[in-house]
Formats: sequence, C-alpha cells, structure tokens
Amino acid sequence: MIVRDVRLEGAATDLRVADGVFTEIGPDLVATPGEEIVEGHGRLVLPPFIESHIHLDSVLTAGDPEPNRSGTLFEGIERWAQRKEKLTVADVKERVNRVVRQQASFGVQFVRTHVDVTDPSLTALRALLELRDELSDVMTIQIVAFPQEGICSFPGGKDLMREAVGLGVDALGAIPHFEFTREYAVDSLNFVAELAAESGLLIDVHCDEIDDEASRGLETLATRAYELGLGGRVTASHTTAMHSYNNAYFTRLLRLLTMSGINFVSNPVVNTHLQGRTDTYPKRRGVTRVKELTEAGINVSFGQDDICDPWNPLGTGNLRDVVFTGLYVTQMLGHDQIADSHRFVTTNAARTLNLGEAYGIEVGRPANFVVLDAGSWYDALNWNAVVVGSYRAGRLITRTEPVRREVLF
Ligand code: FE2
Repeated sequence: MIVRDVRLEGAATDLRVADGVFTEIGPDLVATPGEEIVEGHGRLVLPPFIESHIHLDSVLTAGDPEPNRSGTLFEGIERWAQRKEKLTVADVKERVNRVVRQQASFGVQFVRTHVDVTDPSLTALRALLELRDELSDVMTIQIVAFPQEGICSFPGGKDLMREAVGLGVDALGAIPHFEFTREYAVDSLNFVAELAAESGLLIDVHCDEIDDEASRGLETLATRAYELGLGGRVTASHTTAMHSYNNAYFTRLLRLLTMSGINFVSNPVVNTHLQGRTDTYPKRRGVTRVKELTEAGINVSFGQDDICDPWNPLGTGNLRDVVFTGLYVTQMLGHDQIADSHRFVTTNAARTLNLGEAYGIEVGRPANFVVLDAGSWYDALNWNAVVVGSYRAGRLITRTEPVRREVLF
C-alpha cells in the first residue's frame, strides 16, 4: 500500500507499507502493479496518539452510586470506594470496551491505565488483564498496579501489589501523598522501587497529587530511581505539589530530577478541576511545572486521567483537548511551543511508556499512524481536526468523515 501525498514533519511525502511495517518513506513513490493507493490530499500524518495516564477501571461511573458533590480528589476517592463494591469483571469490561473504541476514534493506539489494586478480589485488574490481550491488535494497553488507598495504609497493601505482579501487570504505582504518614509514604516508595528493580517492571507513581507544599514524595522517588539506575523506567504522575514548592527548593530538586532521568506525566484538565479546592482566593491552578521541566530537558507527557468518573464528570478521551488546555494552563503558547506540542501525546508519551522501536514513522517500524484533516499540527490543534483514518500495522481501524460546515449567508 502507498499512502500518497501526506505531510510528515512539515514536508510532503508518501509512505509505503508492506506486511504491516513501513518499507519506504519519501516523495513520489511509484506504485507496483496492483498496489493499493490511498490518497492523502496533503493531510498531516502523525504517529498514533498515546494516552499516557488514565484510569480505565473507573470510566463512565460518574454519579454511581453518588456524584462527587465537592469536586475534590478526596471525595472522589470516597465515591470510588463505594462504586468499587459493585464491580464485576463484566461491568468493567463493558465500560472499558466502550471507552477504548472512543479513544481509538480519536487516533489513540497506546494507553497506560492505572488500575486500582486496593481491592482484595482484584476484580478490575482481572478484567483489564483480559482486555489487554483481547484488544492487543488494535490498542496497546499497559497496566499499572495502582494502590488507590495506599500501600502501607491499606490492609494487606504490599501483598496485593505482589499479587498484581504475579498476575502480569506492566508497571507498579504508589500514592505517597495519601499514605497516613510521611514514614509510610517513604516506605511505600522504597517498597515499589525495590519490587520494580527485582521484577524488571516499570514504575508510575501518583506522586504528590495535593496542594501541600510539604508533600515531597518526588525527591524520594527520584533518588531511588537514580540510585537503582532505573531512570527512564520511572514516571512521576501529577506532581501537583510542585506547583506550590518554593523556588529555592524547586531549583535544588531540579538537579536531582535531571540526574535521575525520570519521566513526568501532567494531567492539566483534571488537575485544574481538582486542585486549589482548599484555597479561597487566589486559587492555585495545581498543575506541575511543565514549562520548567521541559526547558530543563526532562521528558513530560500529558494525560486525560479520567473520563466521566468520580474525579471528572466530563471527558471524551480526545487528547487534542488535553493538549489545548494544557498549553493554556502552563502558559506554553509561544509559536514554537504550539508547533511541536503534539509531542506531549506522541513522542514524549512514547518515551514515558518505554515503547522504543515499536513506535514512530520510520522504515522498519510497525505501520501505525493517523491522518488528520489538517495540513499542520498548528491547524489541527486549533480547529480540532478529526482523525480521518487511524492505521494499525497498515490496517485501517477507525475512519471519521471530515466535518464540513456551511454558512448560509
Ligand atoms: Fe491519576
């Protein structure tokens, strides 16, 4: 197959795909007899979008059994604890199947999902493990064992984490700011770092998702990553307390973060909604320092976090909305910052997920790509261009008609 006349990194080109991989990339490719040709009409191609932080187990549960009336993170955890009692494998699979298809229609092909393992039956985890296999042809799903109610503060928390490793998770989580004490927070991070080093798994911690400037799980996580040589296998998600750190502390911390080589995920839509809830005025935005981390050469990606669940009553899974909001909230609307901002949900996210050579539009790599109804990312972002086609190993897996508006005056 040849995909003809598309824009790749600012230049017009064609793509040749055979046996599910890119075999040739360049202008004016000549079709062989009988070779399928797809016209690109000068549209933008990108590698698929990557959802680097979501909670698929809780999607589409908002209001069930009760809505989160305060809009806080902590009421969200209480509402979820109620909903968790009603979970069945069939319930989780039905909701996630719906959302995954919706994500796919927005050009997402890779998802890192956190799954709550503070449930002695591990129901949601079992459902997600089944879905990871069932959907692997169309969606790559990475599963993080996420201890929503703590590792040291939840009865049997460490054993549940070990059980999740045995069942086959891809990564280990933690939630230091929710542990009962600072000592438990440190102990939970040490436990996870050692378990990851032993098992070879990745780490993705819900780290300091609170407006408390004294919440400093991040320095422990980064130190363990540095000392154990885990580097890019480790991700710190949320880190909203960093928004409130004093600049002297942040400057010292930045040296450690750079040395450690860890990744960051910011969830600008949901954290703008959840944080600052104990403030009167001024109210903090509660989004981590994306601009400063990026300028220091540290890898940051953006995630959606929640779709219609106890922490976010809205959300579609369209990562364009996350990038759009994220650039505003982090004040990253310089021309060059906009132009390559898809990297927060493409290449940067690929690094976070440790995708390596499984990702990217290059000869020899799997022919996974999306075609947008725009000639540039700048236009695609601004005009919310649809993904007209999402290709997985060269196969069209979703298709959307371009929006055509008529103004009748
Ligand atoms: Fe999260």
